[in-house]
Amino acid sequence: MMLLLWKVCFLGILAPEILCHKVKYNGEQVFQVTPQTSEHVLQLQQLCGTWLLDLWKPPFLEDIHVGADVHVRVPVSLVQEMKEKLLQYSIPFQVLIKDIQELIDNQNMKSHKRHSRSLATYNYMVYHQMGEIYEWMTLIQKEYNNLVTKHYLGSTYELRKIFYLKIGEPSDRPKKIIWMDCGIHAREWITPAYCQWFVKEILQNYNSDQSIKKILQNMDFYIVPVLNIDGYIYSWTTDRLWRKSRASYKNGTCYGTDLNRNFNAMWCSAGASNKCSNNTFCGTGPESEPETKAVVSLVKRQKADILCYLTIHSYGQMILQPYGYTINQSKNHEEMINVAKKAAAAIKKKYGTVYKIGTSHSLYMNSGSSCDWAADLGFNFSYTFELRDNGTYGFQLPENQIQPTCEETMAGIMTIIDYINEKNFKNNAMTIISASLWFNVLFSITCSTAYTLWY
Ligand SMILES: *[C@@H]1O[C@H](CO)[C@@H](O)[C@H](O)[C@H]1NC(C)=O
Ligand SMILES: *[C@@H]1O[C@H](CO)[C@@H](O)[C@H](O)[C@H]1NC(C)=O
Ligand SMILES: *[C@@H]1O[C@H](CO)[C@@H](O)[C@H](O)[C@H]1NC(C)=O
Ligand SMILES: *[C@@H]1O[C@H](CO)[C@@H](O)[C@H](O)[C@H]1NC(C)=O
Ligand SMILES: *[C@@H]1O[C@H](CO)[C@@H](O)[C@H](O)[C@H]1NC(C)=O
Repeated sequence: MMLLLWKVCFLGILAPEILCHKVKYNGEQVFQVTPQTSEHVLQLQQLCGTWLLDLWKPPFLEDIHVGADVHVRVPVSLVQEMKEKLLQYSIPFQVLIKDIQELIDNQNMKSHKRHSRSLATYNYMVYHQMGEIYEWMTLIQKEYNNLVTKHYLGSTYELRKIFYLKIGEPSDRPKKIIWMDCGIHAREWITPAYCQWFVKEILQNYNSDQSIKKILQNMDFYIVPVLNIDGYIYSWTTDRLWRKSRASYKNGTCYGTDLNRNFNAMWCSAGASNKCSNNTFCGTGPESEPETKAVVSLVKRQKADILCYLTIHSYGQMILQPYGYTINQSKNHEEMINVAKKAAAAIKKKYGTVYKIGTSHSLYMNSGSSCDWAADLGFNFSYTFELRDNGTYGFQLPENQIQPTCEETMAGIMTIIDYINEKNFKNNAMTIISASLWFNVLFSITCSTAYTLWY
């Protein structure tokens, strides 16, 4: 029975999630602590360091700064002591999440039996297990075979196949490419949900929306719905808060590389750990992991055509741009900031959600990220999105927030894509500009006529 259960859990198919969740977070809390002075910073660093607490934001002790919120997971055995210490030091804090396990359980209760084998009834407003996402990829490719092809990107450490969907109008000439990956960090469940939503939106609106049609004539989307598949499955079966891949080291006592620290961008120089037990373990070398290699290989092959590299994460509500490993700015820093501002405004317009923008370095040093690596390869647009929320639910964003999150993110990302489309395909842009020019001319003629008539 144990063996069977283990197998079911391990393979991630038909997983009875509740039975399989081995790692429990009963009574564990997430604190939001805001140090007001440099002494607070030191005191907080010492508390977190001594107790080896799991920092959710920022990921490193070194990145704790005066005035910036820190989110930290506190085991039940330390909750009381933590509160007392913070009160003693007069560091402002609040409990963001009262019981992590309760949030996890609530999510899993609802996630039963809503799987559909048809695209028409596929529910985009719930979190899906990997098996369902694999099936969804097959269904979407069949249903929209005029626009979608499914391609093999590579294999994971545990030898699962990673696919990407290529979406665009077929063409004889080479097309430009927009890259987007989701699920590089296992526990960030909202991100695979977003990649699926994005695909659905593009395909459903293709016939009725002229601007999407134009975009799909000019460019192809390469969408990786889940990159870290092993980790994603593990986050369903065993540890909801798992972040890394499932590579095994040191004779099976230590697991997982942070794939977003494994790229060849000043690898493991800052904001990454060389200890495999650490959540930001950078791997045994740049691109040591099969998942990283798979991305690098395809992206390098298509390098000349990629216009934009998007990688989707949660949480924190941010649009970040290079660099994380240096204070140097990317060559078109200003342009990227301006485009990000427009995207953040579009996001806010939808449901009022406030996004921060900036370089990842302004947030915290980190090396080996795919966003920096893509900028070093020469792509003018390379953004990291951190989706909802701001910490109220953290990684356990409730399913009833999937739709608003995806809608606002869609608005933000389409702003970026529209900008890139207009910039690179002037002919199409010209048609739009000249149309509006004509409108203005006609309008002013009409107005001046009216003006003349009036007086
Ligand atoms: C792992 O280490 C243990 C203890 O050091 C040893 O008994 C075991 O044989 C090792 N397993 C493998 C697969 O090397
Ligand atoms: C992980 O590694 C980083 C960088 O070396 C370090 O700052 C952090 O404290 C480590 N975290 C844990 C839980 O050991
Ligand atoms: C930052 O820019 C300076 C000046 O252009 C350059 O010498 C240096 O190598 C850059 N640093 C990094 C880490 O790229
Ligand atoms: C990046 O931007 C620069 C300046 O706008 C431009 O000259 C260059 O062609 C762009 N590169 C790509 C790959 O689009
Ligand atoms: C997060 O945003 C919500 C809604 O805007 C707000 O009520 C809440 O106080 C914020 N929480 C934090 C931790 O900033």
